[in-house]
Amino acid sequence: MLKAIILIGGPQKRPLSLDIPKPLFPVAGLPLIQHHIEACAGLENLREILLIGFYPIAQIEQFVTDMQNKYSITIKYLQEFVALGTAGGLYHFRDQIRYGNPDAFFVMNGDVCADFPLIELYNFHKKTAKSLVTIMITEATKQQSLHYGCIVTNKKTYEVTHYVEKPSSYVSTLINCGIYVFSVDIFQVIGEAFNAKQQDYYSILPVCFGYIRLEQEVLAPLAGSGKMFALQVNNWWSQLKTAGSAIYANRHYLELYRLKHPERLYTSSGEGGCTVIPDVYIDRTASVHPTAVLGPNVSIGPGVTVGPGVRIKESIILADACIEERSLVLHSIIGRGSRVGRWARVEGTPTDPDPNKPFAKIENQPLFNNDGKLNPSITILGMNNRLCPITTPDNTGLQHKTYKV
Ligand code: GDD
Ligand code: GTP
Repeated sequence: MLKAIILIGGPQKRPLSLDIPKPLFPVAGLPLIQHHIEACAGLENLREILLIGFYPIAQIEQFVTDMQNKYSITIKYLQEFVALGTAGGLYHFRDQIRYGNPDAFFVMNGDVCADFPLIELYNFHKKTAKSLVTIMITEATKQQSLHYGCIVTNKKTYEVTHYVEKPSSYVSTLINCGIYVFSVDIFQVIGEAFNAKQQDYYSILPVCFGYIRLEQEVLAPLAGSGKMFALQVNNWWSQLKTAGSAIYANRHYLELYRLKHPERLYTSSGEGGCTVIPDVYIDRTASVHPTAVLGPNVSIGPGVTVGPGVRIKESIILADACIEERSLVLHSIIGRGSRVGRWARVEGTPTDPDPNKPFAKIENQPLFNNDGKLNPSITILGMNNRLCPITTPDNTGLQHKTYKV
């Protein structure tokens, strides 16, 4: 029997959306971590999914109920009393995780998006008999690798010989994807990290009781011990840290639907449908005018209204938003319940990875540089906003109005 843990963190300083917890932000029409849950539910032997985080229960419980009903699998939310770090929650809830004696358990960072190769990971983990941890790794560019956990492996045995979390200078272009398989014996190692920290508890630095960083305090010391291995994958994988990366992830999840869930993609066949440039997801409760043109890479949420002549490309439109006639939305996220008035133009700057650099990942740049300069990024129209032209279009009827959001 297998289990899976999804680390969902808690309310962030930089939310993706002001009203939706980041793990529930819809990407390709589904809450971000529903993609993880769906991948787990596809494993025959996987019996239980535990979400660990420090969001208030009220923000997560409805989602958990919906997921249990949809996938007929046990799903629980375990709330940390305070942020316990990436391993503190695992240790705190170790009895729940060990309950039922699973053969192994997956741990997945909730803020990554991927075509999750869970079966391959587990089969690989089984083959390395003494293994306590299998880490999914992928190639990054030399420069970008510094923002991730960097890994050196033995090319023959796949053993992890060196692990450095976000190094200050180059270590390796192989990076930790934040997707792991653990054997239950790992709790002994995490326990040692926990005990070692008791010393620090009374030292000068204020240390939160039970706070353990998986990467620095568990994985790094395990490197070279013969108990940690890495499986390199070439599947699509990305972090979701910024709003720009949500648009990027949206495109890839929509692309995956073509193979795995073609029924979720909207096709403009039949009468009364709008024109679609693939790939596009439209919630069944949305109302899109037949003269609108959507795509590529567009997700339209529940209750959204898209008016006549609207053009939307590379964007996510959240629930109950209304895009009025002849408006244009490019590289943007339109917040829940927002209204984009007629003839408006909402345009962001694409932030995709550099296509000329092999293995480049999306840059998760802050909104402003250290010198105060704005990093051009996608445009976000926050929740319940209104963006309406002050004047009506000129006689040509073709002029869009541009607004700073
Ligand atoms: N439950 C819980 N409690 N979850 C947490 C906490 C916590 O205190 N802190 C972070 N998380 C969750 C986040 O929500 C996220 O899903 C995951 O743990 C990792 O988050 P970060 O701590 O922000 O790490 P990171 O994303 O910068 O780097 C990690 O992921 C990279 C891959 O995306 C590291 O594991 C890197 O080595 C790795 O390359
Ligand atoms: P600092 O730059 O650290 O001072 O953060 P801040 O609190 O000023 O927020 P900032 O404007 O930098 O935005 C933080 C993140 O939230 C960025 O990734 C923005 O893209 C995103 N963001 C800002 N406003 C909104 C909003 O109204 N709705 C949504 N969905 N996201 C937003």
